[in-house]
Amino acid sequence: EKAGYDHFMLKEIYEQPSAIKDTYRGRMLADQGIIRMAGVDDNLEKFLNAKRIIVVACGTSWHAGLVSEYIFEDLARIPVEVEYASEFRYRNPVIDKDDVVIAISQSGETADTMAAIKLAKENGAFVFGVCNVVGSSISRETHAGAYTHAGPEIGVASTKAFTTQITVLSLMALKLGKAKGSISNSDYHMYLNEMEQIPAKIEKALKSNTHIVEVADVYKNAKNCLYLGRGYNFPVALEGALKLKEISYIHAEGYPAAEMKHGPIALIDEHMPVVVIATKKGHYEKVVSNIQEIKSRKGKIIAIVTEGDTSVKNMADHVIEVPETFEALTPLLTTIPLQLFSYHIAVMLGKNVDQPRNLAKSVTVE
Ligand code: M6R
Repeated sequence: EKAGYDHFMLKEIYEQPSAIKDTYRGRMLADQGIIRMAGVDDNLEKFLNAKRIIVVACGTSWHAGLVSEYIFEDLARIPVEVEYASEFRYRNPVIDKDDVVIAISQSGETADTMAAIKLAKENGAFVFGVCNVVGSSISRETHAGAYTHAGPEIGVASTKAFTTQITVLSLMALKLGKAKGSISNSDYHMYLNEMEQIPAKIEKALKSNTHIVEVADVYKNAKNCLYLGRGYNFPVALEGALKLKEISYIHAEGYPAAEMKHGPIALIDEHMPVVVIATKKGHYEKVVSNIQEIKSRKGKIIAIVTEGDTSVKNMADHVIEVPETFEALTPLLTTIPLQLFSYHIAVMLGKNVDQPRNLAKSVTVE
């Protein structure tokens, strides 16, 4: 059932190219410039008239929501707020009938997300679900939705659910951007064509696996680890840190790279590994200067870079390459090496990768 892989998590990491194809198959017709999503098409006016989108989710799904904030605002020019479902439900939040609430959940059973949906519905908002498990409670409770079609995710650490959630949310943003005219026709077509290249580019990113094993071996005994990224890669930094802590039990924090100087920089010394996502598009120069700040305090840099990068290579202790893509689609690629890095460290430390201590696959109690 693990199809020859040692763990479900590894199998699911490697399934991402095909999972993403399954997510867009039948929905995105790149050559015709069409994105069909019944749940969006049937409610197009609601999306187009939305004053804002409120995303509610937990954990990794919340990170996918954070990526969607960048993409919805960037491409569809709709203001987005991303909320931890557990905070939203108890905060007496302002919810308007013109708000569109998007609930993201792999399992479709998360108690806090479910409660947030009920609250949003009571306040008259239109609620759209992005779930993986077909027929799950959240998929039934929402007014409409889109499944991620990632196939069963068994490993407690979410991997393919995350990248397929981002895929669904990207398709939605592109569709709405096109309908609103906030992206040009030519950009829209370029995005669709690029989305079709993503599975092959993930395959390529997966080829760094052997190199990642070597890097993991160097840092497996670290006590702490920082993850930094900016823009679209900020949520990826959070997700990378979550993956490391939940399966290897190493303390890790994700930060927007520029926030480092407001506190976390005090932690940096020769014992602190810092994973920096420094891909070519998206504040590259600024991230490079963040790397210099870390280096001058003797921190160890593991940089995720765009194929062929040379400047970061000269500064970083290790570089892991990913193929080039559009800035908005970068998280689909930069996430891959971070998943593998955590996986290998956890395996080297002898941890129970698929069922980490204290965690359940779906959190059905608050
Ligand atoms: O099933 P959901 O997407 O609603 O689950 C939300 C979180 O519990 C989940 O993403 C959790 O953070 C994962 N273990 C992360 O790998």
